[in-house]
Amino acid sequence: ERESALDRDCTTLSRHVLEQLHSFSSDAQDLSAIMTRIALAGKLIARRLSRAGLMEGVLGFTGDTNVQGESVKKMDIYANEVFISVFKQSGLVCRLASEEMEQPYYIPENCPVGRYTLLYDPIDGSSNVDININVGSIFSIRQQEGEDTDGTAQDLLQSGGRSQLAAGYILYGPSTMLVYSIGRGVHAFVLDPSLGEFILADENLKTPEHGPVYSVNEGNFWQWDEPIRDYTRYVHRHEGYTARYGGAMVGDFHRILYQGGVFLYPGTTENPDGKLRLLYESAPLAFLMEQAGGRATTGTQEILDVVPTKLHARTPLFIGSRKDVALVESFLQEGV
Ligand code: AHG
Ligand code: MN
Ligand code: MN
Ligand code: MN
Repeated sequence: ERESALDRDCTTLSRHVLEQLHSFSSDAQDLSAIMTRIALAGKLIARRLSRAGLMEGVLGFTGDTNVQGESVKKMDIYANEVFISVFKQSGLVCRLASEEMEQPYYIPENCPVGRYTLLYDPIDGSSNVDININVGSIFSIRQQEGEDTDGTAQDLLQSGGRSQLAAGYILYGPSTMLVYSIGRGVHAFVLDPSLGEFILADENLKTPEHGPVYSVNEGNFWQWDEPIRDYTRYVHRHEGYTARYGGAMVGDFHRILYQGGVFLYPGTTENPDGKLRLLYESAPLAFLMEQAGGRATTGTQEILDVVPTKLHARTPLFIGSRKDVALVESFLQEGV
């Protein structure tokens, strides 16, 4: 059925963005151009991943540690640089901030005019790269506020995730998909490698009110607070729940977006704010989940209301179907 839909109407990503906004506004032109650049980054990364086991210098670690204290993979660096190089040529983005760079990266030749900032996680779930299972990239686009003359990007620490202009992810799975929102619903595209184009697959995705999946690394049980332990005990003892956890949030999130359920990354004794970073992991996915009718919370605050105190700030994350997030919250509130 999908096949015939494609034959009938090949809506490409850039056309879709233009149609969503009023095509003649300059914002629409800009966002469409930015999305086209993100799609190009996705194609370059997908191409390299698809041959990873055959090429030198793709798998494994670089030997460096990033600002997060994590061992860096060669693919993390490759993908980080792909985004920089595609945006160098765009003229639109002055600043990029990513998981793999301690400070934002400035493209001075774009800066007087380029009014946008790209925040991104170049490879999400990078521990999956070496074993050939799904990974992703996450992105968020914000308007640059003020001049940022001292290079400290203070404006990024003054507002919450509702100021995102667009957000989305690319999932490198059996097929490569790009899912995005510019605040007018959530739309999914599949990369047709023979065309080199992302083609519309699902428009206006809505996550179910409730779903069977709970997605959490239960190996951290010993490090959790009692309410989260109680929640997992509850799902263990009730019919209708199933566990799924892939080690790449983009994949786990994608399943929940389509089928419902909840993804959890609570605080641990080692990391009281959990692992996931607000600006380029939790906030973009929260933007999508709200647009799809679901919710995202830290347990005490909606993710989109959190104003970060630093570029790489982390927060606990509970995201997914409204009823399933509410169930997690009911345990957290009992614990208070
Ligand atoms: P990244 O690879 O970008 O550092 O992110 C990994 C994240 C996320 O994708 C995943 O859900 C989670 O880390 C897995 O962490 P654990 O191994 O602690 O469960
Ligand atoms: Mn990492
Ligand atoms: Mn990540
Ligand atoms: Mn990453």
